[in-house]
Amino acid sequence: MRAQLLSVALVATLVSAEPWGHPSWQSKDSCIEFFVSVPVDTVTYPPLFPPFANQYEATENLLQSTSRTAPPATAVLGEPKNISTTFKISAKYCPPAGHGYGESVDTVLLLTHGLGFDKSYWSFEFPPGDPSKYSFTAHATPKGFATLSYDRLGCGSSEHLDPYNTIQAQIELATLISLTRLLREGKLHHSVPVPKKVVHVGHSWGSLLSNGLASAAGDLTDGIVLTGFSHLVIYQQWFLHSTGYHLASLNQPKRFGNFESGYLTWGDQVYNQYSFLTWPFFDPGVLKFAEDNKWPFTAGEFLTGGFVPVVSPGFKKPVLMMVAEFDLIFCGANCTGIVSGPAHQVFPDADLQIYEQPNTGHGMNLHFNATGWYDVVFDWVKSHDL
Ligand SMILES: *[C@@H]1O[C@H](CO)[C@@H](O)[C@H](O)[C@H]1NC(C)=O
Ligand SMILES: *[C@@H]1O[C@H](CO)[C@@H](O)[C@H](O)[C@H]1NC(C)=O
Ligand SMILES: *[C@@H]1O[C@H](CO)[C@@H](O)[C@H](O)[C@H]1NC(C)=O
Repeated sequence: MRAQLLSVALVATLVSAEPWGHPSWQSKDSCIEFFVSVPVDTVTYPPLFPPFANQYEATENLLQSTSRTAPPATAVLGEPKNISTTFKISAKYCPPAGHGYGESVDTVLLLTHGLGFDKSYWSFEFPPGDPSKYSFTAHATPKGFATLSYDRLGCGSSEHLDPYNTIQAQIELATLISLTRLLREGKLHHSVPVPKKVVHVGHSWGSLLSNGLASAAGDLTDGIVLTGFSHLVIYQQWFLHSTGYHLASLNQPKRFGNFESGYLTWGDQVYNQYSFLTWPFFDPGVLKFAEDNKWPFTAGEFLTGGFVPVVSPGFKKPVLMMVAEFDLIFCGANCTGIVSGPAHQVFPDADLQIYEQPNTGHGMNLHFNATGWYDVVFDWVKSHDL
C-alpha cells in the first residue's frame, strides 16, 4: 500500500541560522504542506434518522439527545457496516530548526487538533504572521523536534465528506492509525524521513483519538501527550447544550454555505469563549480570530465518540496528561483533584504523569501562557528520552 502523493501545495524557504542569538521560536515558517492518500478499513454506524432538513430539526435532535430520558447513542445507530476507502488528508510537516527536508530526525510530534479547529491550531499566529505566542510548532522545532500536523476529516483542506455516516469517531481513529503507519514506513512524502520515535500529541477530541491509538494500536506510538482532555465525560453535555446545534451553513454562509446539515457549530464568539476560554487569561483579539476561522464538528462525531477505546491495560509507555485548570468540557470548569483517579484506571500500566496548567481554559493554546505549557511538554518528552 504505497501512499500516493497528490500534490505539494507549498514549499517555503528554510530558516537561516540566527547569528545574533537564538530566539526560542522559529520566526519563518519552514514547513511543507501536502496531501496524502490514507487507506482506511473500518466500520461506519449509519444513523437511523434522516439528515436534518433544517435548523429546527437539528436543534430538536440536540434537545432529544440531551433529554433526561434520552436513549443511548447506540439506539439511534444501525448495525456497523464495513468501509474500505482512501481519504485525502492535508498534512503539514515541519523539520527541526536548521534541518533540511528529508534529513533524518529523531522524534516527530504527531499533532491531532480538536473540534472547532483545523491543523492551524498548532501553528496559531496572532497577530497574524507572529508565531511567538501561540505557535506550538514554531516553538517545537528549535528544540530539535519535527512536527506533523494534519486536518482531521471535515476540517481545513482535508475532505469534507458525509457528516452523518463518514465523519465518525472510529473512522477518524482508523485514519490516525493509518497515517501513523505511513509515517513510520516512510510513505508519507519524499521530504518526510522515517523518524526514530513518534510521540502523539492531541488536543481535546484529538486527545481522545490519540488515547484511542494507544489503546488500539499502542505499538505505533512511543508516548502520548493528551492536552485539554480527561476521562470524565459528563461535562461534555455542557458544551453540547451551548452549541444549540447551529447549522454551519447558516452560521458562516460565506465559508460553509454548501456544507451539509450534519456540519454543526456554536452560535458566536460568546459561546466560543464559554466553551474554550477563561477570562481574563486571553486576548479578545485571539477569540475573535478563532471564531472567524473556526471549523464545524459533525452529528456523526457526537454519536460515535463512545466507540473510541480508551482503556489501555498493558500500555507501558509514557503518558502526559496536560489538563487545563479551568477546562469546562472535561472538568466542569475545575480540573483540580478530579482527573487523576480516572486516568490511572485507563492507564494502569503506563508511566503516567498529570500536569495541571494554571490560568487556562479548555482551548489551552489560545491563552496568554501557552508557551508555558509547551515547555512542560518539551521537557517531559526529553526527560523520557523520546
Ligand atoms: C467486515 O469485516 C470483517 C472484519 O474484517 C469481516 O470479518 C466481515 O466478513 C466483513 N463483513 C462484510 C459484510 O463484508
Ligand atoms: C476547584 O476544586 C478544588 C477541589 O475540588 C477546590 O479545592 C478548589 O477550591 C476549586 N477551585 C475553584 C476556583 O473553585
Ligand atoms: C505559565 O506556565 C508555566 C508552566 O506551567 C507555569 O509554571 C507558570 O506559573 C505559568 N504562569 C502563569 C502566570 O500562569
